[in-house]
Amino acid sequence: MAILPGKPTQAALDAFTGRNIMDIESLSKEDLETIMQTAAYYDQALEEKRLLDDMKGKIMASLFFEPSTRTRLSFESAIERLGGKVITVSETPTMQTSSTAKGETMYDAIRVINYYCDVIACRSPIKGVRHEIARAATVPYINGGDGSGEHPTQALLDVYTIYKEKGTLDGLVHAICGDLKYGRAPHSLLDALSKFDVKKIILASPQELRMPAENIEKIKAKGIEIEECFELDYAVEHADMIYMTRVQRERFGSQEEYERNKNLFIMSERHIQMFRPGAIVLHPLPRVNEIEVEVDEYPGAVYFAQSGNGVPVRMALLALVTGCVK
Ligand code: CP
Repeated sequence: MAILPGKPTQAALDAFTGRNIMDIESLSKEDLETIMQTAAYYDQALEEKRLLDDMKGKIMASLFFEPSTRTRLSFESAIERLGGKVITVSETPTMQTSSTAKGETMYDAIRVINYYCDVIACRSPIKGVRHEIARAATVPYINGGDGSGEHPTQALLDVYTIYKEKGTLDGLVHAICGDLKYGRAPHSLLDALSKFDVKKIILASPQELRMPAENIEKIKAKGIEIEECFELDYAVEHADMIYMTRVQRERFGSQEEYERNKNLFIMSERHIQMFRPGAIVLHPLPRVNEIEVEVDEYPGAVYFAQSGNGVPVRMALLALVTGCVK
């Protein structure tokens, strides 16, 4: 599949309108194609500095109950770029501004917030809360990350980035590296890669931070070749796309577990000599120490541009689920 910038057909737009984006598993390959093409269309509009009003008069509720720089700001940038407006809850356990601090359930909060907006983007530290939110939402809900569960919009911008950089995902070896146990971005990316005709997926992690078995089994059941390994060097030498991730300190059961694992997967300048020709390096960011800054100079280190791709991809998602692509 090539991505050509384009608006969705009326049938595709009708099929998206009103939908929630909770995870990657519930999106079809055709859905991914529609999202990619619509994202490319908005990417081109941004490049040409066109003023858009596709979502004029629409309001997005931006609900972030866990820290975020990229996801929250790129969602908010996306709706602003489409001519819409934002209302925001942005809080952490030490800085609470909404009535969840008084014990209000997410279900009740969403039942109310429905009245204030046309679409909801929400991040929560609670794995699986997406199901509760979806039950309460009467406007489309887009999951901005639920604990160590899923991060579907991240995976979509990851796929978009691979397309932009490599032209295809098919026939390539993709390596997902780092904290595959607690990292929600790797969980969603694994599902996304499995929609394509990839050559192989390498899952490289410390022994204690392996991808959960159920995530692997459902992908293997589709006939996709998965190889697990416990050394970063092996993944670096064998992959066309290397996806590095942060060790998710905030999700560990104990400080000792974190200390044992925090320095095991670090990409440094020496790895550059080991890359396959044309290999690209992605990272959902933020990084801590898992990619040394010297790697930033490698031309295939595309993680900052990858974060930028969050804007057109989230523009596409917002406009599709609200039926607003003009
Ligand atoms: N990649 C990502 O989700 O970054 P933020 O936590 O800054 O949103």
